[in-house]
Amino acid sequence: SVVKASLKNKPDYAAPRLRNLSVNNLPSAVRRFVEKSVDLCAPADVHVMDGSEAENRLIVEKLLADGTIVKLPKYKNSYLTRTDPKDVARVESRTFISTKNKCDAIPTPASDKIKGTLGNWMSPEELERVVQDRFPKSMSGNSKIRYLDFTASSAGNNFRHVRKINARNGFPGRTMFVIPFSMGPVGGPMSKIGVQLTDSPYVAASMRIMTRIGEPVLDRLSKGEDFVRALHSVGRRQNMLPSWPCDPERTVILHKPESNEIISYGSGYGGNSLLGKKCFALRIGSTIARREGWLAEHMLIVGITSPDGAKRYICAAFPSACGKTNLAMMQAALPGYKVECVGDDIAWLKYNPKTKMLHAINPEAGFFGVAPGTNWKTNPNAMATMESNSMFTNVGQTSDGGVWWEGMEPPAEGVTITDWLGKPYDGSSVAAHPNSRFTCPASQCPIIDPLWEAGEGVPISAILFGGRRPEGVPLVYEAFNWEHGVMVGAGMRSESTAAAEHQGKQIMHDPFAMRPFFGYNFGDYLAHWLSQESRHGDIVLPKIFHVNWFRKDEQGKFLWPGFGENIRVLDWILRRIDGDCSILESTPIGYVPKENSINVEGLSPTPNMKELLSVPKKFWQREAEAIETYLKEQVDKDVPEPILEQIAKLKERLSE
Ligand code: PEP
Ligand code: MN
Ligand code: NA
Repeated sequence: SVVKASLKNKPDYAAPRLRNLSVNNLPSAVRRFVEKSVDLCAPADVHVMDGSEAENRLIVEKLLADGTIVKLPKYKNSYLTRTDPKDVARVESRTFISTKNKCDAIPTPASDKIKGTLGNWMSPEELERVVQDRFPKSMSGNSKIRYLDFTASSAGNNFRHVRKINARNGFPGRTMFVIPFSMGPVGGPMSKIGVQLTDSPYVAASMRIMTRIGEPVLDRLSKGEDFVRALHSVGRRQNMLPSWPCDPERTVILHKPESNEIISYGSGYGGNSLLGKKCFALRIGSTIARREGWLAEHMLIVGITSPDGAKRYICAAFPSACGKTNLAMMQAALPGYKVECVGDDIAWLKYNPKTKMLHAINPEAGFFGVAPGTNWKTNPNAMATMESNSMFTNVGQTSDGGVWWEGMEPPAEGVTITDWLGKPYDGSSVAAHPNSRFTCPASQCPIIDPLWEAGEGVPISAILFGGRRPEGVPLVYEAFNWEHGVMVGAGMRSESTAAAEHQGKQIMHDPFAMRPFFGYNFGDYLAHWLSQESRHGDIVLPKIFHVNWFRKDEQGKFLWPGFGENIRVLDWILRRIDGDCSILESTPIGYVPKENSINVEGLSPTPNMKELLSVPKKFWQREAEAIETYLKEQVDKDVPEPILEQIAKLKERLSE
């Protein structure tokens, strides 16, 4: 086979060991986890990752041999992968939290007729059945399963349209990679450790970018540090592509918060397979955070220095594909402002007794960003970050060895594009899948913050909530207080995007941008947020704001230019953090900027600020009603009383 031929006369992962790492000399708790999983999945081979360059080269060679990746000669050490077209996004409907009691994992809707939309629960018994149905021998060689082989095209790469697909029987056994990883800087006071087992070399290579892996983490494990157990297999089915094995019909992503375990089957795609990210840092993380008194959130972290030299850090929670990465790396359009990036997707926030503030760390080490729309204008820092050591997934490929996606600057004269399915791109469809991604090391970001790896995190002065709201929701408003702000987070809604399987652009409730990522009952989550105020008597809580870059006029055109110009809104927020009360106007939904208090100097055309900041009463009466109905139907008796009181007060203010 292609695989075997290419590995002939080359060391495989098992022997010789690069650094003498073997299952036998793993710390005993890790070894037990590996051995149990080996018994279950029966891999042909086990490789314990040390995180070295040499090891990475071997994994890349294997991926090239399998046809999973192709080299992108235009960039240094960068590759493109095309997934199975059925495995392109997170699958929320197949993501489960498993606890003894259902009510610990998800809220109980007010009636049997209402379908719960705040997560899926699975009993421990059902989980065991689901696992036994999928994992036994999932990594072993199998002669009975038909698997698609191909004759490489004359071009010698993996363009699928020119492949001659043959079905043949059997596939070779897989290597199980053992990946010791740390979320947060290794050994940091807010960091946590995991061990992921996977049969996907693409996942192994991506985890190396997205988290800190290898020997330093093994050292921590040797000292007996506890870890999250994460088992992943891409699984198998009839007619798999050798370049991207997966089992989309039977994909499941399972979480056991009571024992800190993650079990993922059937998908090799990002959020389903890079288990440190959504599964650990958010779902399991939020349950650990609740037990330990802190917060695990779907938020970017950014440092902003204003012209007077004062630096402040803020967090922002927007749903997937709503611009977190762009805000996190913003090139400020106003002179004198400097923006520096700590993280673009996940924040762990914890009270720091020295500053009395919430401090945040970015538990990740890389960016897994949405590619389409990213360009040298909208996000030059992201473009610069991915110029080397990057993995691109489901983007278009250019004939000069680079990548292309919708929204990127046009390629040079004469350059042709191959789309994400491997077909010549002729403009009749998209070149890149709408949820195509870049994976690159955070350390390469030109504006990475000097404190991005600080173990104790950075002090947070403000939290922003936001989403895609074409109608009614002002550019920015400020919550009256913490309790009101928590209600604003609970009431978040946004247009659905390609980041998950939801179709079209329906306005969906997405409280705290966490709807797909809660590890426990959302009612308890709200109570936990509210408790931050009383938990530490002297806490200086961040101010809470809501922003909306996506409001449209009657012609359907965006009212606000967005991207680097968003610094104008951040500037207003910074002045509010400083306590400037002269720039406020009180409305029923919160404080909005007083007329002319947002700097629009030099913007052309001048945006219609009146419309951007308006709070239409009818719209908001319907909005308040929708939020109340949603919470009462979906969360019912688990909604904390103060949240219902805040909604009642909002409705009262709107009726005045
Ligand atoms: C994903 O889609 O797999 C993911 C991790 O990213 P997002 O935050 O966009 O959902
Ligand atoms: Mn995200
Ligand atoms: Na969608």
